[in-house]
Amino acid sequence: MLFLAGFLSIICLVSGSFDCSKLFPGSGLSKSYNETIAHAIHSMTVDGLKLFHPHATTKNFVPTVNQDLSQANVVLNHAPEEELDSDFTTMTMNTISKILSTLGNSKDGLGPNWSPIERVAHVFHMWDLWNKIKQEAWNDVLNNKPDMQLCACLASVDGNGIKDAVAWVANHYKTGTPITLLNRPIPKLTDAATWAVWKERLLHYYTPEALNDAAMYLHCIEKFW
Ligand SMILES: *[C@@H]1O[C@H](CO)[C@@H](O)[C@H](O)[C@H]1NC(C)=O
Repeated sequence: MLFLAGFLSIICLVSGSFDCSKLFPGSGLSKSYNETIAHAIHSMTVDGLKLFHPHATTKNFVPTVNQDLSQANVVLNHAPEEELDSDFTTMTMNTISKILSTLGNSKDGLGPNWSPIERVAHVFHMWDLWNKIKQEAWNDVLNNKPDMQLCACLASVDGNGIKDAVAWVANHYKTGTPITLLNRPIPKLTDAATWAVWKERLLHYYTPEALNDAAMYLHCIEKFW
């Protein structure tokens, strides 16, 4: 942490905000890492983090959209613990039960605009993406670890654009159902034709570059726990 603080104070003296992909060209980070990483983590949970770091806790410094978007702080500093009950047998059914049991109170981190099936698709899409990151990009990052300075830059979410991009998502949940951070309108998910649009959007951040950005970030944060 001391190292991180020292490194950051140097960067912050130079400018109020900074771009890790410019500070570390050749790091493998894409230019839009703020958006690829914010997308991967905006609804992260402690259980999601445990895919990557089995000892993850609620003190994880991963900024996420506040589950209760009626509160003033739309971004939390840590990914929260997701309380699932165990009345059903499988995690899938207990997850669906959790989603349906918060319908109407807008306290599932998505705000008021998502239909029940859109909420279900979102939760399982995020789990799907986290598993994709683990399968496709995690080992490459472990075999070619980012150095400590790059990790410090990535973990410094207040200045590197990642927290701002999570806030972008939170603020757009107040008025719509954005799937990407590209500000494109999306139809309500009501039939096969609209699902085709949703599916294409949901797969937007499954590129090797986006998966690598997220894997680098998820690798680096653990160094500062
Ligand atoms: C991500 O960073 C780019 C380049 O700095 C910037 O243009 C864009 O607005 C940022 N996106 C969000 C959602 O903050």
